[in-house]
Amino acid sequence: MAIRFSEEQQVFYLTTQQSEYQIKIDQYGHALHSYYGAKVDQDMSYLFSYENRGFSGNPDVVGKDRTYSLDVLPQEYPVFGMGDYRQPALEIENHDGSYGVELTYDSHEIKMEKYQLEGLPAAYQNSGESVSTLELNLYDAISKIKVQLLYGVFEEKDIITRAVTITNMGSGKVNVLKADSASLDYADKDFDVIHFHGRHNMERQYERLSLKNGAFSIGSHRGTSSHQHNPFIILSDSETTESHGNCYGMMLMYSGNFLATIEKSQYNQVRAGIGIGSRGFRYSLAHGESFTAPEAILSYSANGLEELSHHYHQFIQKNVVRGKFRDQRRPVLINNWEATYFDFTEQKLIDIARDAAGVGIELLVMDDGWFGKRDSDTSGLGDWQVNLEKIPNGLKQLADTVNKEGLKFGIWFEPEMVSEDSDMYRKHPEWSINIPGRPGIRSRDQYVLDFTRQDVRDHLVGAITEVLDSANIEYVKWDMNRSLSNVFSESLESHEHGKFYHLYILGLYEVLERLTSAYPDVLFEGCSGGGGRFDAGMLYYTPQIWTSDDTDAVERLRIQHGTSFGYPTRTNGSHVSAVPNHQTSRITPLNTRGIVAMSGSFGYELDITKLTQAEKDEVAEQVEMFKSYYNLIHEGLYYRLTNPWENESFTAWQIVSNDKKETLVSLVRTRQYANDPIAIFRLKGLDPQQIYQLDGEEKEYTGAALMASGWPVPQTNQEYQAFTYHFVCKE
Ligand code: GLA
Repeated sequence: MAIRFSEEQQVFYLTTQQSEYQIKIDQYGHALHSYYGAKVDQDMSYLFSYENRGFSGNPDVVGKDRTYSLDVLPQEYPVFGMGDYRQPALEIENHDGSYGVELTYDSHEIKMEKYQLEGLPAAYQNSGESVSTLELNLYDAISKIKVQLLYGVFEEKDIITRAVTITNMGSGKVNVLKADSASLDYADKDFDVIHFHGRHNMERQYERLSLKNGAFSIGSHRGTSSHQHNPFIILSDSETTESHGNCYGMMLMYSGNFLATIEKSQYNQVRAGIGIGSRGFRYSLAHGESFTAPEAILSYSANGLEELSHHYHQFIQKNVVRGKFRDQRRPVLINNWEATYFDFTEQKLIDIARDAAGVGIELLVMDDGWFGKRDSDTSGLGDWQVNLEKIPNGLKQLADTVNKEGLKFGIWFEPEMVSEDSDMYRKHPEWSINIPGRPGIRSRDQYVLDFTRQDVRDHLVGAITEVLDSANIEYVKWDMNRSLSNVFSESLESHEHGKFYHLYILGLYEVLERLTSAYPDVLFEGCSGGGGRFDAGMLYYTPQIWTSDDTDAVERLRIQHGTSFGYPTRTNGSHVSAVPNHQTSRITPLNTRGIVAMSGSFGYELDITKLTQAEKDEVAEQVEMFKSYYNLIHEGLYYRLTNPWENESFTAWQIVSNDKKETLVSLVRTRQYANDPIAIFRLKGLDPQQIYQLDGEEKEYTGAALMASGWPVPQTNQEYQAFTYHFVCKE
């Protein structure tokens, strides 16, 4: 049984293949978080500390016992205002203005299937998979607040999901000021925190720091999960490496504002919480109303960071991403953005398609600029009708011509936005997010549409449906190119604006659900100025996301490294672009650009008509190589062989097939030295007993040798050269 309640011990045991999670209901009904880690099969509440500690108060229920304090005991869902002074998961403003809520055990239910969340993305169970749910109901009899903690235990995947529903059972209104999706307490841990920060054009940069006293937090209040911080953190022992040691992941399956806080408190206990951020959040609940916090995905590994990443990769691939493109081969694409920007014609696109077909590319994506009056980024957003000056024969004929050339046809949208200079804005200025009476804040010369409004959502679904029905469109790039600010909605009462950011995301999810279920054969790719909304929430609707607007192969190494901790290779939209690179002006060989982009959902983003025949031949070889390694790249286990933040000479990574019979090793020399020193790197994930051979070579290597002693870093005479090694087990 993956979930077991011991009546005698009053302990819930949640177990996966390798991990165990415990919640103790103590003699006063408090739900205490007693353990998360390797399997121990032991009630871990013997580690609870009961001491008389100054300034840590004692609840009335314990009488004169000064040794019992919620400020010291590990809490399953800590609240603000009742004597636990660490970071709370829950902050409620009661009807009378007070903040106190004391949650105690009310009831529980164990179900043999995964819970779902209405209106929110949530991981799902596949047939034959062992998944169970614990519903743990806590209640405050004075405030009449019911808190339902939800746990989804994915036994074989070593994943525990959590979500929370808060219901106001009282007669007066209350405000939820903070409601984390998950909170974990650890006794006496010297943790490191690993997180992924960045900016536009440089997302998910790896950073590891040792936790000091006080609190460390990351988050976003931009309305999107953001380029600046990813809703994913890892806590690890300080000695944990890629292949050894304890580590814990907390990922939020949500695409809007978030906050993750890790606090080391006065007694060296550590509390980690993740959830919707509290800034701008104030969710009012009338009698009987509920708020559901989005799902958090937790995982634990005793064997280092690569195994933790594998848990997330396999989970996202098979329990988060939905639809036919979860498993089906995704086309190699060519996107015209960096080829033409706004300056293209119908004929130019057809020329690109023709040359792309010649090298084996399978899909043409027409990016920004095909609609309304959109010759630059200053106008046209919102007017989702084809611009007949650019595409005189209309979308249908263009798609048909591209199809005749042998390619599928895809299209770009930025549905959440409106340009001031657009028919939509002229007709419906009230649809954009702005505070009445205040000047607006433009960003890329555009405003955000109010997705909390049903009429706005219905309009967008209608407009997009019309376009998708008008031609054979088999791919949609869903972009979002600014952060939210000065939020306000005519659809909300004045006291309800603390709901705005969340309702916006619920509105977005509703639109995505309607469109993706109406068009199951269309491949949707997420995007927000590259990877500004790269999260498990979006991946529930869009199986891949454009990783970054930075297409420079060398910068991508760090971006892909950081992204790989939480997200599988196939979720990364990854393209070969022209040199000098448009973001950095760096010149890298075409071979290097191909090798780097191949560790993702692969494509090109350059004017292929301008390539020489030799370059086209090389592209054709790359496309063929990608297709032949498709299953390995998209289904295999991904290993980081170097850390680009520590190794300035080269970056290497490896993908191993699940049966360990095949592996693709990729390496980029990131720094050229005169009289190059000798360097060796070690492979991972092979079968030590097996004999491996490189393609077309007789020489044999044992898996043990490749893993223990390694492989030589090739000597180069020019910076940024790249290499791949495809080893296959000898029959
Ligand atoms: C964003 C995207 C790009 C491109 C442009 C178009 O920046 O990330 O890939 O689609 O918008 O305006």
